[in-house]
Amino acid sequence: MDNIVTVKGTHDVINDEAIAYQEIELAFRELADLYGYLEFKTPVLEYSKLFTRSVGESSDIVRKEMYEFLDKGGRSVSLRPEFTASIVRAAANAKLFNTQDLPIKAFYVGPAFRYERPQAGRYRQFYQLGLEALGERSPILDAEIISFGYKFLQLLGFKNLKLKINTLGDDESKSNYKKAIKEYFKPHLEEMCSDCKERYELNPLRILDCKVPSDIELVKNAPSMKNYLTSESKEYYSLILDMLNELQIPFEEDDSLVRGLDYYSDVVFEYHFYDEEGKSIGALGAGGHYDKLIGELSGINHDGVGLAFGLERLYSVLQSNNLLPDMTHVLDVMVMPISDNEVPFSYIITEYIRDLGYKCDISYSPKSLKSQFKKAERKNTRFALIVGEDELKTQTAILKNMETQVQEKVPLQDLADALDKHLINHHSHEGCECGCDSDDDCDCDCEHDHEHEHECCCHHHKEEE
Ligand code: HAM
Repeated sequence: MDNIVTVKGTHDVINDEAIAYQEIELAFRELADLYGYLEFKTPVLEYSKLFTRSVGESSDIVRKEMYEFLDKGGRSVSLRPEFTASIVRAAANAKLFNTQDLPIKAFYVGPAFRYERPQAGRYRQFYQLGLEALGERSPILDAEIISFGYKFLQLLGFKNLKLKINTLGDDESKSNYKKAIKEYFKPHLEEMCSDCKERYELNPLRILDCKVPSDIELVKNAPSMKNYLTSESKEYYSLILDMLNELQIPFEEDDSLVRGLDYYSDVVFEYHFYDEEGKSIGALGAGGHYDKLIGELSGINHDGVGLAFGLERLYSVLQSNNLLPDMTHVLDVMVMPISDNEVPFSYIITEYIRDLGYKCDISYSPKSLKSQFKKAERKNTRFALIVGEDELKTQTAILKNMETQVQEKVPLQDLADALDKHLINHHSHEGCECGCDSDDDCDCDCEHDHEHEHECCCHHHKEEE
């Protein structure tokens, strides 16, 4: 049979990797919420011109990497290669720049697509987690975004972090610098790589990104961007750096950091992680300021700033450096009908246990009890609940502690109490509003605990009542 596999450069996210993605995404969502960013969900499919106009005709993304095609109506559409343009388009379409308090603070999570050469840390479909703050020019807002990114990585447990930062300045600074750099590279152009020759014409700043060994020395000695900044751009940048210093966010200025998307102006930055051998798989996340993009897409001139992280890269570095939290999935109760006859009734008990707030599963087509116990062990189960013919008749069940092997017969009407008694101290308090630890006395006054006995995820509260 023809074995159908994933499309080149794409990958399935399953099992532990899926759990880790969920954890990383949750941490991101919680932090975004703390900072006052709201989620925007935009389509994966956009008109191609959105990206040619924003990410830019001279960027590698638009020139070589877009998943661009004609739809059945002959319209040129593309799978989004990034989110910033879509977020600005969405805000412009909803007229948020006219009606809403500025800045508009948006976050997003989802897949992006680039037809790149697959290699470590580089996929054709990858997930991004990102933020954009639209509609205000303030160095404090730039610092907020940069600080958010740093704190997010710290929260995930990253230690050897390097935040690289640079400024491209405003239009005047960029154009002065472009001129200088063209003059500098012109006499050497013949010896330079073919990409650089193209960049020289399209976007000379991007030559500074060249990693081809024979060009590196030349690039290193290129004139420094700093010398071509207008005083306004210099001042704006130094206010951002001052705030980062105040916030004790360590950074390293990198004169050659230019970024590959055309919409940037002023500050740009990247977060890198280096392992013990000093190796990096590329930026974990990156971002910067843009001063023309919003005007281009909305007709109203405003500034914006944002960043995006790559989920695959975050996961891969966390995993290879043993920074992932324990993700063992634990089942509170496995219901074990002895034969098919007890399955429907056992399933009703299963739903009841889930309604109590315990993680519960069942053998849908029961084999021997022995094999059910093996399966329960593989699923890290705490309690087995055995239901046979006798139990069905007497409305009871046998509750067996998988660790101690001690078992007891429990009337079903007492099942909730029995489970609470055994599981309360183990039970995870995920989602409990007070964030209490079950081993401590909790005096939170969340409304669940007193008013809706079974709706409170925190069984500790129930016991106190
Ligand atoms: P970017 O640097 O192109 O910036 O992508 C951001 C992050 O996405 C990268 O640092 C990397 O972690 C991840 N990434 C990019 N391409 C791939 C790939 N092929 N495979 C795996 N991960 C990848 C942007 O996309 C900008 N929109 C960021 C931004 C937001 N600037 C302002 N606001």
